[in-house]
Amino acid sequence: MVRPPLTGGRGGGFSGGRGGGGFSGGRGGSGGFSGGRGGGRGGGRGFGGDRGGRGGRGMRGGRGGDRGGRGGRGGGRGGMKGGSKVIVEPHRHAGVFIAKGKEDALVTKNLVPGEAVYNEKRISVQNEDGTKIEYRVWNPFRSKLAAAILGGVDNIWIKPGAKVLYLGAASGTTVSHVSDLVGPEGCVYAVEFSHRSGRDLVNMAKKRTNVIPIIEDARHPAKYRMLVGMVDVIFSDVAQPDQARIVALNASFFLKTGGHFVISIKANCIDSTVPAEAVFQSEVKKLQQEQFRPAEQVTLEPFERDHACVVGSYRAPKKTKAATAA
Ligand SMILES: C[S@@+](CC[C@H](N)C(=O)[O-])C[C@H]1O[C@@H](n2cnc3c(N)ncnc32)[C@H](O)[C@@H]1O
Repeated sequence: MVRPPLTGGRGGGFSGGRGGGGFSGGRGGSGGFSGGRGGGRGGGRGFGGDRGGRGGRGMRGGRGGDRGGRGGRGGGRGGMKGGSKVIVEPHRHAGVFIAKGKEDALVTKNLVPGEAVYNEKRISVQNEDGTKIEYRVWNPFRSKLAAAILGGVDNIWIKPGAKVLYLGAASGTTVSHVSDLVGPEGCVYAVEFSHRSGRDLVNMAKKRTNVIPIIEDARHPAKYRMLVGMVDVIFSDVAQPDQARIVALNASFFLKTGGHFVISIKANCIDSTVPAEAVFQSEVKKLQQEQFRPAEQVTLEPFERDHACVVGSYRAPKKTKAATAA
């Protein structure tokens, strides 16, 4: 555990993002978050505890909470209230941390100290030996992976040293935290087809040498096969109706046997005429038909409405009876 005296964060102290309701939540004290995007639907509500819907065997989870629970969108940097002492503790997902102050925040250790990526807050803490570590606040209203972590997902598989293929990188907001998380021994191949977002992504990667930006359509992995090695994890957030097919295609090129996937599913991108839960189920079926073995599902509420995150393995060897008994 790092037990630092608080040295503020940029600009001194912390203030919550505009209008955002503070909450604390996530299973097992995952750490809450205050601020971030606010001012929209459902903003200003407090949240506590486990955000629901998990349990059962095999595929776990399902939708938790009601549909109206989003904090809404707006500007603002997520952060912590200033003035208090902040203690940074490791989260149960390696490479992720919780900054505990007046309000808690999810943070990652900044791979490029002194630099923010999207104007996020930074927290500098001092170790007993006088060395400083800088963390960046990870806003779950701007990152589905952060939302899934706070939603209590059991495994993200993205950990220090991991090689990750990230589909739908946009400007690199979440990619930058994945880059922190995997650290200098890991790497992130970040695929984005929009040239506009890609510009920011490429600029970010100039300072983060473990990010390899690839401005291509994820539907055509053959076009970037020379750039990408075999990976441990595919993370996908392309928000496309054929996402399952896109992920399967990329997995067939780059994902190790026994590797893992983490997919954010936006229900109304796939079918806006049926309930979100039905869309999630049909996506899970598609994944199963493509040699994926979905293991868990969490919803991203209250941060994103009608989104789920599904996590599982690829071409995982079937458990033998003997192995199960052992
Ligand atoms: C929901 S946004 C991703 C946000 C990002 N993951 C983050 O957390 O910062 C979806 C992104 O996927 C990109 N995208 C959609 N289809 C794609 C495709 N076929 N190939 C590459 N990128 C794609 C879009 O341009 C968009 O930037």
